[in-house]
Amino acid sequence: MRNGVIPMLAGKRILLIIGGGIAAYKALELIRELRRAGASVVPVLTRAAEEFVTPLSASALAAEKVYRDLFDLTDEAEMGHIELSRDADLVVVAPATADLMGKMAAGLANDLASTVLMATDKRVLIAPAMNVRMWQHPATQRNLSTLTGDGVLTVGPDEGDMACGEYGPGRLATLPAIMAAIEAALSVPGPLSGRHVLVTSGPTHEPIDPVRYIANRSSGAQGTALAAALRDLGARVTFVTGPARVSPPSGVEVVAVETAREMADAVQQALPADAAIFAAAVADWHVKNAGAQKMKKAAGGMPALDFAENPDILAGVAGIKAGRPKLVVGFAAETENVVDHARAKLTRKGCDWIVANDVAPGTGIMGGTENAVHIVTAEGVEDWPRLSKDETARRLAARIADALAEN
Ligand code: C5P
Repeated sequence: MRNGVIPMLAGKRILLIIGGGIAAYKALELIRELRRAGASVVPVLTRAAEEFVTPLSASALAAEKVYRDLFDLTDEAEMGHIELSRDADLVVVAPATADLMGKMAAGLANDLASTVLMATDKRVLIAPAMNVRMWQHPATQRNLSTLTGDGVLTVGPDEGDMACGEYGPGRLATLPAIMAAIEAALSVPGPLSGRHVLVTSGPTHEPIDPVRYIANRSSGAQGTALAAALRDLGARVTFVTGPARVSPPSGVEVVAVETAREMADAVQQALPADAAIFAAAVADWHVKNAGAQKMKKAAGGMPALDFAENPDILAGVAGIKAGRPKLVVGFAAETENVVDHARAKLTRKGCDWIVANDVAPGTGIMGGTENAVHIVTAEGVEDWPRLSKDETARRLAARIADALAEN
């Protein structure tokens, strides 16, 4: 066993689902090893696991709250099962019992562990452990191949003497083997690794004078969520953001700008990119006669603002002849005839997709946490359901990864 911090594990968060089997006590040692390696561990105990290990031991070793199968309203209020499943870098099931494997293969979600496993968007590694006959049963082997086909990673089981007195495959893999599998699972490159993706986000501020500006209601939430989702799939992300209300995500290169013209320059600097996503709400005009000093109230008169058009950053990048990003995506925030406007915009801007949404005041989308988008491409229109902006971002990032993989 390696001692000390393992770089690939340092700072990683492992959601450890402990199944109910005689090997459950070894999960406690696994918690210790993971923490020694620099990871944090959030244990989830199935009801059966509590027959073998106590929540208190798991919690004490993990120095974290333990999630149990009993439906707990406080838990759900503090962190719902969806967040629990998404907050981790990796989900590990050890020991994975025949029952848990069966539930996973069948897509059942009737307790906390199985619900978390259905809801997660992270890699899942299982370490099966069960009686040799249960392991060799055609149902378990069928479930194993279903799970492998679903992308679930496995480690073990090992062959040897079993607690039940039989000999054969079914023993939980050794701790060093499980640790190595966890390390390998965390280092598998994401579908966007090696890709550079540019994302613009937030509003722009167009000065009228040194203290006043023209802005819009964009919070930057959708662009920020998208940058984080692209990062999670392994992309190198350049995030060009106007003065947004939400903080930029960690792990991306942030270029903070204020005006549309600054945004255009920053985008030029950030190219080339494999994909360019324009989620910013860019002002169409800037004030040509913005003063160097604060405007004064003139007796009787009103200030006259003289506007000039801003560069259309999206259309500029979509029209690049040599070295154009393979995928150029625009956003269209509309308050009526959303899809018709988006179709026209797709042609006018020359981009590959328009992500259109209805931001009419009644929708609560602008500045809110949810979004309902339509993906408009040359092939047609997809209407997505109303989802959290995070979930919309994850689905968009996955679709972007698919599109780049096709090229
Ligand atoms: O024309 P409209 O502003 O509705 O188009 C929206 C799309 O175009 C968004 O993707 C936005 O980021 C992008 N855009 C841009 N530069 C502008 C105006 C809009 O990149 N000056």
